[in-house]
Amino acid sequence: MLGIREFLGLGALGNLPSLRFKVTKKCDDKTVDSPLLSRNSQVEKKNLTTSEVEIWQISMARMGDSIQAFRSLLSHDEIQRADRFAFEIDRSRFFIARAAMRQILGWYVGVAPQELTFSYSQNGKPELNAEFEKAGLKFNLSHSRELALLAVTQGARVGIDVEFVDHKFPGEEIAERFFSVSEMKTLRSVPANQRADAFFCCWTRKEAYVKALGEGLSVPLHSFDVSFGPNAPAALMHVRTHPDEISRWSMYEIKVLRGYRAALVVEGSGHILGHRQWNVEF
Ligand SMILES: CC(C)(COP(=O)(O)OP(=O)(O)OC[C@H]1O[C@@H](n2cnc3c(N)ncnc32)[C@H](O)[C@@H]1OP(=O)(O)O)[C@@H](O)C(=O)NCCC(=O)NCCS
Repeated sequence: MLGIREFLGLGALGNLPSLRFKVTKKCDDKTVDSPLLSRNSQVEKKNLTTSEVEIWQISMARMGDSIQAFRSLLSHDEIQRADRFAFEIDRSRFFIARAAMRQILGWYVGVAPQELTFSYSQNGKPELNAEFEKAGLKFNLSHSRELALLAVTQGARVGIDVEFVDHKFPGEEIAERFFSVSEMKTLRSVPANQRADAFFCCWTRKEAYVKALGEGLSVPLHSFDVSFGPNAPAALMHVRTHPDEISRWSMYEIKVLRGYRAALVVEGSGHILGHRQWNVEF
């Protein structure tokens, strides 16, 4: 059992009473709020089964005075990286997403958030370092404007992507450069007033896949097809270089805040998706 101080990583930090958060779980479309976790709460280490995937929504809309508390959970390298952002808002969002990621992963692993250490693949995908990897956790983070998503699995490779649907974004131009021929055809068949949403629907599905691979945008995005368009269930349709890829992965649409699109790709099939909310309470 972890005490809330350890859970929140406050052990060595002195007084940071404003940093509290609650865990909300959605069950059968009903939202169940846990009581607000307080300093004296006891939080059990969370164990996942190999078929479970937990998707955490992290709101970055209100950060108040907690930024310093979040910052204090980060490593020296992470703080240095944050300090390179030109705009304060980007720095603050980086702090909150990273701190939330550390708190949540710390909960699964059973250690204080600031004790976690990460290694990075050649293309920058973070993984838990070997000493924590025995927990077998895999995760992936994505953020866009005021929303971050973190997907956590027990052993299965995972990629997640969220994007704010920006109607001013030159989606068709970008699609011409990056989408496959068949995806372009689908995009053009969508009524003009739904095209921005369709673009981001396709984009998030493609990014979730290349993030699950860990290769990011070094994979040519036109080398594989995803489904999208009105009522098209999320699916990896065709990977030209490796046709057996489509049976290796499952793709899911994730319903998030209005105005955003999100997709998840997980290795294997038959997953049980759980939805959780991470909010800071002031
Ligand atoms: C990974 C990538 C697709 C992210 O795209 P994005 O939409 O801007 O960002 P998202 O918010 O969805 O994801 C960012 C998070 O994904 C994770 N991430 C970083 N690199 C990753 C990778 N290669 N695979 C999976 N996840 C990755 C990190 O947690 C990152 O969070 P951080 O920025 O707070 O550290 C993109 O940055 C990329 O391709 N990077 C790899 C570098 C590369 O291959 N460059 C070649 C360019 S041609």
